[in-house]
Amino acid sequence: MALRIETDSSGIDWQRVSDILREVGMAHYAPELHQKAFANSFASVFVFEGDELLGFGRALSDGAYQAALYDIAVRPAQQGRGIGKLIVAHLAERCSFGNIILYASVGKEGFYEASGFSRLKTGMARFKNSEQMRAKGFTE
Ligand SMILES: CC(C)(COP(=O)(O)OP(=O)(O)OC[C@H]1O[C@@H](n2cnc3c(N)ncnc32)[C@H](O)[C@@H]1OP(=O)(O)O)[C@@H](O)C(=O)NCCC(=O)NCCS
Repeated sequence: MALRIETDSSGIDWQRVSDILREVGMAHYAPELHQKAFANSFASVFVFEGDELLGFGRALSDGAYQAALYDIAVRPAQQGRGIGKLIVAHLAERCSFGNIILYASVGKEGFYEASGFSRLKTGMARFKNSEQMRAKGFTE
C-alpha cells in the first residue's frame, strides 16, 4: 500500500501519537499536550499507510529565517523504509527559506547526516529535566 502524507492534524489520534513516542523511547505526554504542540507548530507532517499512522514530525519556525525540528518518530516495525527521511525532507522543504536546527537522540546523528545536517559545535540547551537529559547523553 502506498504511503500517504498528511499535513492537516485535525483528524489525528493523539493517543496514538503519544503511544508511538513512548514506543520509540522519546518524551511523551497526555494526548491533549501533543495536540497543542502540533497545533502551535509552523509545519506538521504525518505519514500513513491506509489508516495506520506510521510516523510524524513537526517544525517550529519564525517563518522568515529560522526553524527547528521536533518529535520526529517512526514506529519501530516501520523503521528502515525511508519514512523518517521522507518526514525530514517534507519539513525541510516547508522551512527552505532559512536555517534548520535540531537535537538528535543519542545514536541518531547519522540519520540526520544522511539528510544533509551537520553536527553543531556550539549548541546549548536549558532543559527542564536537566539531570535526566544529562543521564541520557544529551548534555555534558
Ligand atoms: C530516527 C528515525 C526517525 C529514522 O527513521 P527511519 O524511517 O528508520 O529512517 P530512514 O529509513 O528514513 O533512513 C534514512 C537514512 O538514514 C539512515 N539511518 C537511519 N537511522 C540511522 C542511525 N541511527 N544512524 C545512522 N544512519 C541512520 C538510513 O540508513 C538511511 O540512509 P540512506 O538515506 O543512505 O539510505 C527512526 O529510527 C526513529 O523513529 N527512531 C526512534 C525515535 C528517534 O530517535 N527519533 C529521532 C529524535 S531526534
